[in-house]
Amino acid sequence: MPSSRHPLVAVLLASTLALSACATQAPASARVSVTPTQPASVQTMAPGHTATTSPSASAASPTAPTETQMPAPTSTDGSVPGEKPSGSVQPGASLPAQASLDNVDCSKAKCIALTFDDGPSEYTSRLLDILKQQQIHATFFVLGAWAKLHPDAVRREAADGHVVGTHSWNHPDFSKMTDAQIMDQINRSVTEIQSLTGKKVTLLRPPYGAMKKPMPKTGLSIILWNTDTHDWQNWKVPNPQKTISAALAQARPGCILLLHDSHGPSVDAVAPIVSKLKAKGYTFVTIPELFDGKLQPDVIYTGRGK
Ligand code: NI
Repeated sequence: MPSSRHPLVAVLLASTLALSACATQAPASARVSVTPTQPASVQTMAPGHTATTSPSASAASPTAPTETQMPAPTSTDGSVPGEKPSGSVQPGASLPAQASLDNVDCSKAKCIALTFDDGPSEYTSRLLDILKQQQIHATFFVLGAWAKLHPDAVRREAADGHVVGTHSWNHPDFSKMTDAQIMDQINRSVTEIQSLTGKKVTLLRPPYGAMKKPMPKTGLSIILWNTDTHDWQNWKVPNPQKTISAALAQARPGCILLLHDSHGPSVDAVAPIVSKLKAKGYTFVTIPELFDGKLQPDVIYTGRGK
């Protein structure tokens, strides 16, 4: 198991709010869970957790890390994929869908989906400039509490044509929470994101890729990943080259690549990654595009197989 520590940033926002920033699955013994009811505190650089190579390494995640089938219809509770959600009413049902499809046929093209977790942050604006310059679209899994801190970044993500999904309100471990707590995390963040973008949120990436089994039905498609650059490990000693090398070594058609716009060195790695993969014939698409716009609610996706 990797032993690197990941910096955890917790910021006092309100009496019951603390934030943590990280997205990689950790062993249960090493996970840090910040629940909505945690007493208020100000923490910086608290010990983090170790990482595995995929979001699905623990029993909490029912999909194997190598799962790349299309559309990988793994229901979170064994029910029929596409079945109407039975959980809380999803906010924003009347809002328009996000990002139209760009007529890319990912059954033929070498598609790859860049995904950015744990933002928005002070680095997101620079990342959006890079994506615009590269003329590509990505998918952002934002934290509701950070969206409240950086609302312009979320507005611009949507305005620039990127897809914005939820990464929860403040990054707790869903595998250790009640259904009601999970739904509160999701509903609060979805409401915040939709108030900024004016578009319906349809995608969820659980923090750490950790899920309760069974997960409550949220009506959102659950998007994990199958390509992990471990970019956040370069947080203390900035090393974009490591992230670039990892991305280039692991990229394959149909993959979902995990990066974090909460870290400057990760953003530094994006332009070289995109340029080099474009040169290899890759087309960059959003998550809905990667799956031909046919994502189903409460189904887990980790990538598109070839
Ligand atoms: Ni995260």
